[in-house]
Amino acid sequence: MFEHLPLPSPDEIVPLMIRASKDIRAEKIDMTVGVYRNDMGQTPIMKAVREADKYLSVHRKTKCYVGPLGDADFVASVKRLAFPKKIQSKFIRGIQTPGGSSALSLILNLVKKAQPDMKVWISDPSYANHGPTITSIGLGLAKYPFLNRETMMLRPTSLMETLNCLGPSDAVLFHGSCHNPSGLKLSEDYWHKIAGIAREKGFYPIIDTAYQGLGDGLTEDAEGLMIMAESVDNLALSFSCSKNFGLYNDRVGCAFLMSSSEQEVDQGQLQLASLARPAHWVPPQNGAEIVKHILSTPQLKTMWLEELNTMNNRLIRLREKLADALRIETGTKTYDFIAENSGMYSMLPATAVQMETLRKDYAVYGLDDGRINIAGLGMNKISHAAKSIAAVLL
Ligand SMILES: Cc1ncc(COP(=O)(O)O)c(C=O)c1O
Repeated sequence: MFEHLPLPSPDEIVPLMIRASKDIRAEKIDMTVGVYRNDMGQTPIMKAVREADKYLSVHRKTKCYVGPLGDADFVASVKRLAFPKKIQSKFIRGIQTPGGSSALSLILNLVKKAQPDMKVWISDPSYANHGPTITSIGLGLAKYPFLNRETMMLRPTSLMETLNCLGPSDAVLFHGSCHNPSGLKLSEDYWHKIAGIAREKGFYPIIDTAYQGLGDGLTEDAEGLMIMAESVDNLALSFSCSKNFGLYNDRVGCAFLMSSSEQEVDQGQLQLASLARPAHWVPPQNGAEIVKHILSTPQLKTMWLEELNTMNNRLIRLREKLADALRIETGTKTYDFIAENSGMYSMLPATAVQMETLRKDYAVYGLDDGRINIAGLGMNKISHAAKSIAAVLL
């Protein structure tokens, strides 16, 4: 029955992850998969998550369905986290989703239902799932300039020029913070410029926030969204709790709609719930209950914030150390951008062949497009990483 279907394009990350896990060289550095790792190479369960899980295992009263809208209290707590300031004269409604991926998919399905001919613009480069999610829904896909692959810096002029050519039949997907894969940070000034263009041209901003708290801090990482929300009348937000709560396989997220019309967001929320019905019917509740419990229990919230801060500071320190080591190894400032990037990723200005040489000859694993997950570096591996990169990329 399915034989005539062309094979889907293979997943790049999983085979690389498996290959790295089988590599027994002591100097191995695995920077492939997009999960947080500590210095021991583990993706730990956060302390507050463990405590909340323990508490809920005793006090949880039911495992009954929560309905396609999800748990309203959970959605309200995530809303307070995602939108840390009150946005004057705007209404926000959300639904609980299985992770940020489903949130984005539901939002895009809603866009398709409302405006079937809308084109969705993603950054060049962007998270590997963005393009396929858009095209599988049947929406048009286009890319806006973002990263200059020679300097590994932002391309502000061509970015603004492209956005200035868009209009009400376009949606533009932005990363709320911690851009995946480049780690490039949009300054507040650029966010203001982009938000101004969005208001003037009327395109629909969709913000994907998957790393809040792992860039410059919880509130700081929401600044771009706040600037956009204050400027435009309508936007959508897909929000993931996978990384900042370490709840990857519990599938915890929310899809939010914001509008200056209350009726519009109320209708949009019901539409999202109706789209959830054939997709997953109701969201998984275990992880959402954990998040809700942490955010509503001051002691656990403090515990979570402290650990998130520690993870964040570790990423910043690793970035600084790697950039310093590369400055020494190469005698240039070529890699200073790594310290300026934020979140879990940066990209090496390398070809796929060079990335393979790094794997084969140096046991240093990143993706073919040059993406490296900074969290995969241990402090004791910085020197090997820098020496290897300098040897292969010089
Ligand atoms: C930019 C971006 N959005 C969304 C996601 C998916 O998040 P989730 O695991 O919650 O579906 C990721 C995961 O890597 C991501 O990098």
